[in-house]
Amino acid sequence: MRPSPQIIVLDAGGQYCHLIARKVREFGIYAEIRPSETYAGEISAARGLIISGGPSSVYDPASPTVDPAIFTSGQPVLGICYGQQLMAHLLGGTVTKGDRGEYGLATLDLDLTADPLFAGLGGPQQIWMSHRDVVTEVPQGFSVVGRTATCAVAAVAAPERKLYGVQFHPEVVHTSRGRDLLHNFLFRICGCTPDWDPSHRLPLLEQEIRDYAGGRKVFFFVSGGVDSTVAFALCQRALGEERVRGVYVDTGFMRAGETEFVARMPGITVEHAGQRFFRALAGITDPEQKRHAIGEEFVLVQEEVIEARRLLDEEWILGQGTIYPDTIESGGTAKSSVIKTHHNRVAGIRKLLAAGRVLEPLKSLYKDEVRAVGRELGLPAELLDRHPFPGPGLAIRCLCCDTDAPVLETADGWIIPVHSVGVQGDERSYAPVLAIDRLDHRAGTELINRLRGVNRVMAIVDSHQPIRAMQVQACALVPERIERLRTADAIVRRLCQRSGYDQQVWQFPVILIPLGTIDRPDSIVLRPVESVDGMTAQSALMPASLLTEISSELLAQPGICAIFYDLTHKPPGTIEWE
Ligand code: XMP
Repeated sequence: MRPSPQIIVLDAGGQYCHLIARKVREFGIYAEIRPSETYAGEISAARGLIISGGPSSVYDPASPTVDPAIFTSGQPVLGICYGQQLMAHLLGGTVTKGDRGEYGLATLDLDLTADPLFAGLGGPQQIWMSHRDVVTEVPQGFSVVGRTATCAVAAVAAPERKLYGVQFHPEVVHTSRGRDLLHNFLFRICGCTPDWDPSHRLPLLEQEIRDYAGGRKVFFFVSGGVDSTVAFALCQRALGEERVRGVYVDTGFMRAGETEFVARMPGITVEHAGQRFFRALAGITDPEQKRHAIGEEFVLVQEEVIEARRLLDEEWILGQGTIYPDTIESGGTAKSSVIKTHHNRVAGIRKLLAAGRVLEPLKSLYKDEVRAVGRELGLPAELLDRHPFPGPGLAIRCLCCDTDAPVLETADGWIIPVHSVGVQGDERSYAPVLAIDRLDHRAGTELINRLRGVNRVMAIVDSHQPIRAMQVQACALVPERIERLRTADAIVRRLCQRSGYDQQVWQFPVILIPLGTIDRPDSIVLRPVESVDGMTAQSALMPASLLTEISSELLAQPGICAIFYDLTHKPPGTIEWE
């Protein structure tokens, strides 16, 4: 049985809402998420409330709000980012549109106060910011206790009323003392006592699977990645092997060696479908359309497989390895802006969901929690420690363009007219990238905060031609380009595994962009990142010798004109380019 939640996280639509609840659970305190507008009376039993961040501005008419009665209930309330702004706004303070946003790392100067929330936390410290609006006047009874160079109200407190707000994100790992701040809130302010043991998770997940499946059998389309494999193994354990089957669809966008690896797994058969996926994607360049086309084709293949294997019978349901970030970033929580449509959320799958025929046993877990479940299930470390790889595969890392376009030289570098997806202040962006001539992360962060109209900065590592001699060429997703990317990806993976670098980074996408010359029409972007759960990430450093080795081997490949290194953190970039 789940305990009743001690902490309620009020969801104002933030990318990080679920992360907050999970961080609370990591302290052994059971937390749940509710829509922000939930009536105070319904959540009065909780020991404390946290209002999440969100993509809105408090002045937008449709922006999320909270029941103001929560501020007089006597329960402690912590507002994070938009949560702080909302609290200030509703209690008589002022929120103003910032003239420039603040995205990424900043230094917080926190007062040394006697307040238990900030116990042991005074002084300068690293925090993570992602916002444009700011609180400019605090409500009566509140005092400002922390600030950054560009944000004068970064932490506020009204201790007698147990109301607190922070503009930064204590729930992400890049806020160095964020864990301590949450710990203080839970134990010193709210008086929580541990009631949640994560090791109860496995029996709980198995029970949920049995409850949902009832007497039905489950079949999976496994991708060979961690999520679908763990979900598959978990279902086999919960329901018995004979009730769970797996089919692996080779879309043509798999990494080198992937299909062979999966084909060796017990209980799984391979469906070769590469040609039809290329047909379905012919001429499509827009990333969202690509995802939809792949998702729809997947559903078609799936339906054919179902029919061929006589799985249409009501006794079968579809199992999926969907995890928490997938549902959040597709607008799965009530209000988060649609950053991208993950392929397991397209219309076809939604129909199955509506019919109650989709089982997603990992949908409340983050990547590292999924790995922990996999370890408990006894799956091999070789599989579990693999870097995550998106379902639509190499297709989303192969960027396309509608028209030829020149590179634009500016005072800051070259604007490359290849659009890619990003996330800024909880909103989706789709913009060109700036190339600079030095591998300097600090310069990258400075430029991305200053410049409008680009959402990434990358450094040129090496090339056959100077950037000014290159141009972006119209192109779509064709087998030749996917093969080029597959080869590059395999080279990078081999060299990183050999040097042990793959264990130092969280993920290392290799991206193909249509920038080059007639003879060498494409370039490669290297995107090693550090992260904990994929929600935020930092562009990772790499040993110079490894970079030189990778770059020279890639440049020796036919069709490759230049090698770049993405310097952008998430936010404002995403991990993947699309
Ligand atoms: P972004 O690019 O949004 O990626 O920063 C965050 C994490 O999610 C992975 N990702 C996916 N995983 N299906 C998946 O299973 C997908 O469609 C998908 N798209 C992105 C991405 O690789 C990164 O780890």
